[in-house]
Amino acid sequence: MYHHVKQLMYNVRVGEPDVRFGRALMEQFGGANGELAAAMQYTIQGWSCDDAERRDLLLDIGTEEISHLEIVGALIRMHLQPMKKAMEEAEQDPLVAVTGGGGLNLFNSMGNPWTADYLKIAGTLEVDLRNNIAAEARAKITYERLMHLTDDQGTKDALQFLMTREITHMKAFSAALDTLGVAPFSIGKLPPTPGLVDEYYNDSTGDGTGDSAPQWLEKNGLHVVKSPFSFQGGGSGLDVDGERSGDSGRSGPSVPTPAVAKEPTHGSTSTATGSTAGSASHKTKKTA
Ligand SMILES: [Fe+2]
Repeated sequence: MYHHVKQLMYNVRVGEPDVRFGRALMEQFGGANGELAAAMQYTIQGWSCDDAERRDLLLDIGTEEISHLEIVGALIRMHLQPMKKAMEEAEQDPLVAVTGGGGLNLFNSMGNPWTADYLKIAGTLEVDLRNNIAAEARAKITYERLMHLTDDQGTKDALQFLMTREITHMKAFSAALDTLGVAPFSIGKLPPTPGLVDEYYNDSTGDGTGDSAPQWLEKNGLHVVKSPFSFQGGGSGLDVDGERSGDSGRSGPSVPTPAVAKEPTHGSTSTATGSTAGSASHKTKKTA
């Protein structure tokens, strides 16, 4: 159930309306990282969340984002006021001035319509919480950039409030993710391929500078290997050139199968290029 309270979450004050700034601020109204996108992303995630505590969190924050949308809408309405009165101001954006009467609509700063494609909803809680942390980071940096585009103190203060709340939400989503007890790189149920998962391919070489990967890549168990030209896939089917495995004379490393995966039951797996099930590592080499 939703209920509207007839006051803004933050009472905005605009000293000097600025149509150009109002148009830029549309980015946070109907843009990819704007308040409507955030509100819809968290609310839809919440409505489909089976975990009662996290559903509550998603809906709390989704609801606050609607309040943010209302604040941004109020700021835009105040900044666009001159557009309703002066041709010179209306000329800055005929779409808003003529089609929209100088008021709000669900467009971004470039006049592109809002779309549900902006929403990142994966349907798996730990993935969605990561989506939301990233969404808050994008919203935060967008507010920061907008704050550099205005000298109006009342507007800056309102944006400071909104920007701060994005960090608050990042903290809340991070806390929710922590309490799930999911290891940092554990996504879903299937394990990644052992060995392969820890290989970092140094794919940028050639000019003699920066050809060695930085040491910090070794964090989280990564190690740098020379990029393999191509891997040989498993199974006994045809490849992209219509060749059956082993027919083409191609060579290359095969990808080990995770230990928990089922062994293939069919008997026609090629011994030349077949699976190395259970192997914890593999060597990489270039094909001819
Ligand atoms: Fe927000």
